[in-house]
Amino acid sequence: MSKRRILVTSALPYANGEIHLGHLLEYIQTDIWVRFQKMMGNECHYVCADDAHGTPIMLKADEMGITPEELIGAVSERHQADFADFSINFSQYHSTHSDENREISSEIYNRLNKAGYIKTRTISQAFDPEKQMFLPDRFIKGTCPKCSADDQYGDNCEACGATYSTTELINAKSVVSGATPIEKDSEHYFFDLPQFEQALKDWTNAGHLQDEVSNKLAEWFEQGLKQWDISRDKPYFGFQIPGTEDKYFYVWLDAPIGYFASFKKFCDGNNVNFDDFCGKNSDAEMYHFIGKDIIYFHALFWPAMLMGSDFRTPTAIFAHGFLTVNGKKMSKSRGTFIQARTYLDNLNPEYLRYYYAYKLTAKIDDIDLNLEDFKQRVNSDLVGKVVNIASRCASFIYKKYDKTLSASVIERDLYNEFVTTGDQIAMHYEARNFNQAMRLIMSLADKANQYIDEKKPWQMSKVPGSEQEVHEVTSFAINLFRVLMTYLKPVLPEMAKQAELFLNIDELVWSEVRSPLINHQINKFKPLMTRIEDEQIAKVVESSKQSVGTEKEISKKEENNMIQIDDFAKIDLRVAKIVKAQSVEGADKLLQLTLDIGEDSTRNVFAGIKAHYNPEDLEGRLTVMVANLEPRKMRFGLSEGMVLAAGDGESLHILSPDSGAKPGMKIS
Ligand code: MSP
Ligand code: ZN
Repeated sequence: MSKRRILVTSALPYANGEIHLGHLLEYIQTDIWVRFQKMMGNECHYVCADDAHGTPIMLKADEMGITPEELIGAVSERHQADFADFSINFSQYHSTHSDENREISSEIYNRLNKAGYIKTRTISQAFDPEKQMFLPDRFIKGTCPKCSADDQYGDNCEACGATYSTTELINAKSVVSGATPIEKDSEHYFFDLPQFEQALKDWTNAGHLQDEVSNKLAEWFEQGLKQWDISRDKPYFGFQIPGTEDKYFYVWLDAPIGYFASFKKFCDGNNVNFDDFCGKNSDAEMYHFIGKDIIYFHALFWPAMLMGSDFRTPTAIFAHGFLTVNGKKMSKSRGTFIQARTYLDNLNPEYLRYYYAYKLTAKIDDIDLNLEDFKQRVNSDLVGKVVNIASRCASFIYKKYDKTLSASVIERDLYNEFVTTGDQIAMHYEARNFNQAMRLIMSLADKANQYIDEKKPWQMSKVPGSEQEVHEVTSFAINLFRVLMTYLKPVLPEMAKQAELFLNIDELVWSEVRSPLINHQINKFKPLMTRIEDEQIAKVVESSKQSVGTEKEISKKEENNMIQIDDFAKIDLRVAKIVKAQSVEGADKLLQLTLDIGEDSTRNVFAGIKAHYNPEDLEGRLTVMVANLEPRKMRFGLSEGMVLAAGDGESLHILSPDSGAKPGMKIS
């Protein structure tokens, strides 16, 4: 079979949150498939990026007193560290906020525009008069017009499930400022999706999608395709639309183009031809792994954009279901909203890779991570079955047979069964039926263990004259272990590396399983994987609860604007003297303040006031600070409190006490 050329992507995670176990279902699924393709000898490139644009990211940076660029830089580092620690092996990890993406997005837009697929029209939308910005639906909250539940988002009610427009919401408030939104007109740019109706109907029925997905699309076609609003007004963190003064691409316009941008970056650095994979006449394959929540974007908007701008369309879209934990939606209060880092602090990433592989199919059903089942499955399959084969036989070879495997294969039939089953396992990997692949591998592992149980080398070795047979039996078992580890390598790359070391070979290669290791010297066996203990899982759940306690308290406070006197008393307000004020390298909005709060103690505080004050003018002044604010780790250091200031969004004024006040005085 000739070598295939394949470009693979996973959806781009948003740059305003941490990677959690739900995301990882997708990245692990994709990574396993890519590693498998590479083992088959195919040329396979796997690209991804942070999805860095949009209102939530802009507002979050604002809230933290840093620029969006600073925010996405820091998040990208954490995302990449998480992925690396889970052995997600990207060819390239980039950002949608990149030169490549700006260029390709403009190019695609210009082509669409030239071909008549971009329309403009004026629409009226909710606007925050205080913050001077248009408000996306999720930044408006109010009372549901259908069931009167409080605190519901601008477009749908979580209590009764109703959907409505923000204008119907009762007592609507901007989440950003608390102001009552007004309606305001603005000209918007639209991608004329209906022009692609027939082409999309053909495309979605031409084998590029899973059946369940095609059915879903048939429903959407019945409801009729609508023009897609691709512009946003400033302030917006994104790319300016070519030929406009103050319009920006909606984040979802340039997000999928980010796949191309990341691949372009890879091509430039690795001497690969971009057009061979992405050009109109490409004969390479291109696959997008995504969650079922973003099918509309990938199976309608994206192919239409590509058709309209003369690029290739995807070979297939591979959608997966959502992760549940212990049978329920991941929940912060139950401690099952588990971040990648929390998991990594307590458990081996390959446990999760195996468990996901054991559960994953090519369907879009949700997948449950039952923590008890997870523990048992990993302990019984990986530790109890696979590692056990090697650990029961390795020391014989090492101690009694000069570390060298025997000269022949004792059970040719059983060995052949291991080899030929490899074709079925490969077929299941290819079809993303990883669960079937894992079941076949484990049934082979069972056979290997049965074989050892029957032969009982530990008893046989006590019988005089049986040296050769013991040598052959244990060597054979080690060879079976080698085959199993080869088949598991896409799922367990780290354990496979350990096995390569133990077997004293360069690499476990799929096509080499048919030739067993003969007269081959091995290394000392070290345990390749330990059992999961209950306590490790308990720790993960416990720490996932902790990291969220504060968030819950905050949202509780938001429900009710009134506070009690003892709520106020919790705030330790002090007079502080600004002894030093200086700019912070890499932060446009921040000043670093050193505050004297009496009793010979100083505090370091980062304040978002740079636009309003010269550092020199502040030194020596008295002001008011919150002294018992939980210190916050920022990119530039620890911020140990907050300085109080008054402002209307335009100008800003820090507070000062009346004359005579001294640093450290308490305010009440
Ligand atoms: N930024 C968009 C994707 C743009 S792609 C051009 C986005 N980001 S996301 O961070 O919300 O999600 C990234 C991927 O993770 C999506 O495919 C999403 O479906 C997947 N998952 C997020 N939570 C998930 C679960 N709980 N379970 C399984 N997959 C989940 O969407
Ligand atoms: Zn309701």
